[in-house]
Amino acid sequence: VDEPSQPSILSGKKVLLTAGPTREAIDPVRYITNHSSGKMGYALATAAAKAGAEVTLISGPTNLPDPKGVTTVRINTALEMQAAVMERVDESDVFIGSAAVADYRPASVAEQKIKKTQDKDDMTIELVKNPDIIAGVAGCTNKPFTVGFAAETNDVAQYAQSKLERKNLDMIVANDVSRKDIGFNSDQNEVTVFWPNGHQALPNLAKGTLAETLISLIEKRLSETTQ
Ligand code: CTP
Ligand code: CA
Repeated sequence: VDEPSQPSILSGKKVLLTAGPTREAIDPVRYITNHSSGKMGYALATAAAKAGAEVTLISGPTNLPDPKGVTTVRINTALEMQAAVMERVDESDVFIGSAAVADYRPASVAEQKIKKTQDKDDMTIELVKNPDIIAGVAGCTNKPFTVGFAAETNDVAQYAQSKLERKNLDMIVANDVSRKDIGFNSDQNEVTVFWPNGHQALPNLAKGTLAETLISLIEKRLSETTQ
């Protein structure tokens, strides 16, 4: 890990991140997930470590290697992600929720592989809502500076700002996932960052550069909001 070029407010601070998708089992061989690659979260973990922070990354299943200088904890389900986060939230100064947490999971996991029925052409899987991990973090007393992501296909600014308020976040990074050229599995992203009483649109950047820009913005907001 490179030494920070100038003293950073993040130096020695504990940064906790989530990244990647979650995987919600249907039966022993099947699951529900999404297309999140984890690239943005891993790049943020790396950038936070570069800024001198002590970084823990709670990651869903990805094809990415553990980032250097970062403690990486691998989990599968949203419930496992929540447990891994809540175990560490008290000691964390910053939380960044970049994971694409599955909103729902199967109400029950079949113990055996579900067999195809011969006399019926349709089948239904009952789903139940997963806990909102970041809202839980932001609801803690002595909560860390909490940064969320908002993946939207439409009305990006409005939805992002309402998530910022509803989840009691300090910052939200809004992402237009309807654009095929950026986001999810891409190496680039173009986002707008919102915080209470302000916002900033960033240009289309490689995820590594974007991560460093976002970490700088977090440092700036942290120094403006603490004391
Ligand atoms: N998030 C979370 N736990 C969940 C769902 C989302 O921690 N169960 C976090 C994400 O990591 C992200 C933020 O909440 O930082 C927004 O996620 P998003 O999917 O955009 O929002 P939702 O509240 O799930 O709303 P919707 O999917 O309906 O837009
Ligand atoms: Ca969601």
